[in-house]
Amino acid sequence: MNRREFLATASATALIPAAANAAATTRLIAAPVALRILPDGDELTKLLGFNGKSPGPEIRARQGERIEVAFENGLVQGSAIHWHGIHLENAMDGVPGLTQSVVEPGEAFEYSFEVPHPGTFWYHSHHRSWEQVAKGLYGPLIVEEIDPPLIDRDITVFVDDWRISRSGELQGDFGNLHDFSHAGRLGTFARALFSQDKVMLGDRLRLRLINASVARIFSLEIGGGSGVVAAHDGMPLPDVVPLGKEALQLAPAQRTDVILDVSGPVDFMLLTQQGPYELGTIVAEGTNPTPIEAPIGPLPSANLPIAVAEGSKSSTLVMQGGAMGGRHGGSDIWAFNDYSGLPEKPWRKFAIGEVARIELRNDTAFPHGIHLHGHHFHEIANDGSLGHYRDTTLVMHGQSQEILCMFDNPGKWLLHCHTLGHQASGMKTWIEVS
Ligand code: C2O
Ligand code: CU
Repeated sequence: MNRREFLATASATALIPAAANAAATTRLIAAPVALRILPDGDELTKLLGFNGKSPGPEIRARQGERIEVAFENGLVQGSAIHWHGIHLENAMDGVPGLTQSVVEPGEAFEYSFEVPHPGTFWYHSHHRSWEQVAKGLYGPLIVEEIDPPLIDRDITVFVDDWRISRSGELQGDFGNLHDFSHAGRLGTFARALFSQDKVMLGDRLRLRLINASVARIFSLEIGGGSGVVAAHDGMPLPDVVPLGKEALQLAPAQRTDVILDVSGPVDFMLLTQQGPYELGTIVAEGTNPTPIEAPIGPLPSANLPIAVAEGSKSSTLVMQGGAMGGRHGGSDIWAFNDYSGLPEKPWRKFAIGEVARIELRNDTAFPHGIHLHGHHFHEIANDGSLGHYRDTTLVMHGQSQEILCMFDNPGKWLLHCHTLGHQASGMKTWIEVS
C-alpha cells in the first residue's frame, strides 16, 4: 500500500444509516450499490449492500427481545444471512447446506430469533461469503444491556479493506487460488466506517469495533482520549483493561468494545510494517458541559451459564494445508484433521450442556481466526486459567490455542476459519449438539 499517494486523504468518513426499528420486522434487501469508498473526487465503487448501503442498516434490540428480519435477495446469485455471535435457534443461523437452503435470486426468507445476551455482533452473507462479504454484504447487530452503562455516545466502527484501483473500481478475480492458498483476499485500501463522525471534547464514547474484512488482521491504535477495553466478541471483560496496555488486534469477524473519554480528535490507525496507516478520524467539536465523572467500570455481565468444569472430552483440531503447507492442491487447499471441506457427518457430537476442551493447532504457515457458530468459548491462557470468552479465536502459525466450551445450544453448528477464502477452500467442519 502506498501511503502517500493513496492514503493521504483517507480521513473522509462514511456514515452508517440510523437504526432500523427492532420492534417491527426489518426488511433487508440485498442488491448492488455504488458507494464512495475512496475519498471525494474519486469514482464510486460498485459493491453489494443491504437497503442501498454497506454496511447495511443497524439492527438493534434489547437483551431478551426477538428480532424479525424479512430478507429479500435482489442479487443475481443466491445468498443467506448469518447472525454472527448470537446464541440463536439453529434453524435461523443462516448457513446454506447445514441449517437452511440457499435463498435464490428474487426469493425471500424470514429470520426470527431471540437475542439472549447483550453485546456487539454483526450480520453478514454466509453464501459465497469470500465474495459477498468482500463486496459489502454485512451490517451491525447491536444488543443493548437491560441496564446499559452510562455513556454519551454509542458509535459503531467497522474496519474493512477493499481491493480497489486508484479510480475506485473494485477488482474482480474473487476466489483466485493464490489468495485462497495464502493470506486471503487482502485489500489495497482500508478505512474505518463510523455510525457518527462528530463528538464533543469530554464525551464518553462506547466504540463498537467490528472487523468486517475477509482476510485482514487489524492491529489498531486509537488516539484522542483515554479509555478501556471493555468487551471482546460481545462479551464483557470481568475487569476492564486500560487502552494501550495490550495491542488492540482484531482478526476477521472479531469485535472489541472500547469506552473512551474524548480529549481530542479520535483517530484510528492501522499498524503496518510500513508504519501507521490512517483509517479515519471522529472529529471533536465543542466541549461537553457535563462530562461523566464516574470511573469506567466493567460492562454488566451477560449472565450466561459459564463453563468452569475441566471439560469432559478433549480433542484436537489441526489446521493443515495452504501454500508452504505441502499437502493439499486444487480447491481442497486447506483442511482440518486431514479433511477438506464440509464433511457429511459432524466432526464431533456433544450432549446438550456438555463442557469440552478442544485444542486448536495451527500446522500451517498462516494465521487463522477460528469461529464457532451459536456459542462462545473460553480461550485457555498459557497458565491454564480461563482467558477471554469469544466466538472467534486467532491462532498464529505454528501455535496452539486451547478452548473450553459449554455446548448448550442444540443443533448443527459450523466451525471454520473466518479468512473467508480459507473457509471456501476447505477449512471448515461442523459439530452437533443434541
Ligand atoms: Cu461470521 Cu460462519 O461466520
Ligand atoms: Cu484461515
